[in-house]
Amino acid sequence: MNNVFYKPVVDSTNLWAKEEGMNGAPCGSVYMADMQTAGRGRRGRTWESPSGENLYFSLLLRPSFAPDKASMLTLVMAMAVAEAVRSYGAEAYIKWPNDIVLGGKKLCGILTEMHIQNGSYFVVVGVGVNLRKRDFSSEIAGMATSLEEEQNIAINREELLERILKAFEKFYQEFTLRGDLCLLQDAYNDILINRGNCVKVLDPKGEFTGIARGINAVGELLVEKEDGEIVTVYAGEVSVRGLYGYT
Ligand code: BTN
Repeated sequence: MNNVFYKPVVDSTNLWAKEEGMNGAPCGSVYMADMQTAGRGRRGRTWESPSGENLYFSLLLRPSFAPDKASMLTLVMAMAVAEAVRSYGAEAYIKWPNDIVLGGKKLCGILTEMHIQNGSYFVVVGVGVNLRKRDFSSEIAGMATSLEEEQNIAINREELLERILKAFEKFYQEFTLRGDLCLLQDAYNDILINRGNCVKVLDPKGEFTGIARGINAVGELLVEKEDGEIVTVYAGEVSVRGLYGYT
């Protein structure tokens, strides 16, 4: 069972969870807000977080496995969110590594951060799900969507949170059993929207295109180049785009 803490307004639930973690908050604590004034996304981007029934939360974990495995938790959470959203009948997919996509647009983003504390570490997995119809800023309009927009259903966010946490617990147990994604990788690949598609890999060392074949047991994306070479792409370094748009 998770202890869920709520505030109407915070700067960022990830920062709130970090602060609580530094003060000794236990594994499994969840920090949720109605609105974030400084919601943070991957690669230094911001996460638009207006008030009004969207879901913004961060889960604090104190894993016993080695810290170099912690980045895979972001894929574990992506599976949990996708499963929870699918339980409402919405055909959600994962865009590698951890965006949740509905109707070809981004529904949810996940930001996982690790913090060192007195020789051990803890992890904060932050999740933002767009639930209500709204006007997104011009920067992300056309790329972002909400559950209400796509499915015409107004989901209760507490109930969605509960379903996500339940799914996460199940996937997390399977992850910790082996310390990697080997027990989860088939299920992940089944809902990977990039799979079988031509993708452009935006590698700082040089962009290339290829067919996405799925993830391996450590969450790297396998991309087959035109000459048949399979390249393993690590999420920390590069991002992947569809050739004709976001997915
Ligand atoms: C992304 O760029 O796709 C990741 C977005 C993560 C947003 C969530 S909202 C809750 C938590 N708090 C934050 O400041 N960010 C994450």
